Amino acid sequence: MCGIVGYYGPENPVDVIIKGLKTLEYRGYDSAGVAILNNGVFKRVRAEGKLSHLEKKLSTETFNGHLGVGHTRWATHGPPVEKNAHPHVVGGASIVHNGIIENYAELKDQLIKAGSIFHSDTDSELIAHLVSHEIEIGKDLFHAVIEILPKLEGAYSVLAVHEKYPEEIVAFKSGPPLVVGKNEKEVVVASDLQAIMPYTKNVVFLQDNEILHVTGTKIEFFDDRGQKINKKETKVDWNPELIEKQGYDHYMLKEIYEQPRAVAMAMGPHVDLASKEVRLCKVGFGVGQLEDLEQLEARADWENTLKTFEGVERVFMVACGTSFYAGMVGEYLIERLSKIPVECDIASEFRYRHPVIPKNSLVVVVSQSGETADTLAALRLAREAGAKVLSICNVKNSSMDREADGHLYMNAGVEIGVASTKALSSTIALMNCLAVALGKAKKQLNEGDEHKFVEALLAAPSHMESVLAYDKFFAEAADTLKDFRGFLYMGRGIHYPIALEGALKMKELAYMHAEGYAAGEMKHGPLALIDQSMAIIMLAPSDELYDKTVSNLEEAKARGGKIISIGSGKNEKLEVLSDHYLALPEVEWTINPLLELIPLQLMSYHVADRLGKDIDQPRNLAKSVTVE
Ligand code: G6P
Repeated sequence: MCGIVGYYGPENPVDVIIKGLKTLEYRGYDSAGVAILNNGVFKRVRAEGKLSHLEKKLSTETFNGHLGVGHTRWATHGPPVEKNAHPHVVGGASIVHNGIIENYAELKDQLIKAGSIFHSDTDSELIAHLVSHEIEIGKDLFHAVIEILPKLEGAYSVLAVHEKYPEEIVAFKSGPPLVVGKNEKEVVVASDLQAIMPYTKNVVFLQDNEILHVTGTKIEFFDDRGQKINKKETKVDWNPELIEKQGYDHYMLKEIYEQPRAVAMAMGPHVDLASKEVRLCKVGFGVGQLEDLEQLEARADWENTLKTFEGVERVFMVACGTSFYAGMVGEYLIERLSKIPVECDIASEFRYRHPVIPKNSLVVVVSQSGETADTLAALRLAREAGAKVLSICNVKNSSMDREADGHLYMNAGVEIGVASTKALSSTIALMNCLAVALGKAKKQLNEGDEHKFVEALLAAPSHMESVLAYDKFFAEAADTLKDFRGFLYMGRGIHYPIALEGALKMKELAYMHAEGYAAGEMKHGPLALIDQSMAIIMLAPSDELYDKTVSNLEEAKARGGKIISIGSGKNEKLEVLSDHYLALPEVEWTINPLLELIPLQLMSYHVADRLGKDIDQPRNLAKSVTVE
């Protein structure tokens, strides 16, 4: 899941490419590099580590050209050292690649036998060898790509350039995203929209097995046999301010603080303030193209959605990472409110467990980026099985958004921190809406209950604002917390996924041992871990499982663990049992996850900060995981 950018135009390509790569750095930050056509030959500069290292190297270089490509890497094949950094250059050809060439060993072997010399450990370099070879034997750049495509297996998006074709970039993909935008004087092609937005709001998304041929400012599209195809431009809404830190020390902290707004924006289109009803807006089941969705009349679509939901007998939630935990919260909500059985799967497991997907299933894929390779593959599997797929994405027009039958949007705004925060809150808000909608469609929810849940959801943002005040508590407590040997997060029922998320955040950000457990399962193992050096974070807001959770807390207390408990309102029992008791507002059970996850995010944030960790870009991770 690397980031790639290509540029043709009158600006200094280095400036445009570096600016673009900065917006894509969340995709990987193991190394970075550029190749710029400079007086007729490609000048390549690469550096190990973050983009800032490359920038330092580039500060002493001058370039005189109008075309170039750049890359920021998340290492798959070969360690994150300079020789493995992209672009890979062979002869006059330079390429940047995002993805994995699965048959690389076989192809590399053939090339070596034919006399090629490799300079890196990557799978990507062979693409440069293949392109260069085709051009040596007489093909032009475009036809060289057509020639090599059938040889490549795996997931890739690639930009190829060659010194003999100084006006051209050829881009092709199968899997990871590629998008292109042009104005009268320049063309930018990149992995994600944000690299293009400063130049144009009109873009074209490439589909798998399509080729983009840039010749000067002309862009043309072809299928993989070289037949010309017509593609529609998409106009994208974008507010560049949303990607500034706005005074916060880290994007993550800013994004934690943006959660009340994110929740309001996510539910906004789907709840009627006056009638306190849910009417999912413009989901688009039965509408072929995303563009057509814009034309839909909301009310007609809602009736269509209800009809679709009436036929649903089973729901699958499929996602990765934090989005998976959002799916788990959805499981608890949907089963309770609609009585439809829900199965929750980690996408990388789902696709390989030969899942039985009955035709009347609704498969919900959750993905902030809309590009996570395993979730995208699960979506395709579900569609092949004849199920209806509903995507919940933050990035509009992402691959999942484009391929799903129905669409809900997180509306969280751009999320930059690699560890996801506000996308989770937005999704939990949407899961509330979805559960009510399914409950209505299945006639399991009366009007009174609907109003109760909707009112609770509408009040959630202001309750979340008040919970943000725990920022101060954790800023101080982090000093002590950082010295613990490990963290056990416990919760039952709907709190269990939040316990898992709490532990994930601590691992991702502070690189500390942390586990999330269903509190009732504690006596089957984790109790053995508990002593003075173990911090226990118990999620115990008031609900039907509260008493049982308190019993589990007593068990942990008896073993000497240090306890932070999180509950609803004033609670003497929890205060006595805990070293620290954090009171949340008393709310409907459906909303508790939105409140309790905030202290857990703040806790990991401050512990990581105190330990001096790289909060927005944790080691070895990337935001958008477009490889298996
Ligand atoms: C990566 C990110 C996580 C994210 C997960 C799923 O691991 O670091 O923050 O939750 O991918 O990403 P998605 O875009 O599918 O929600």
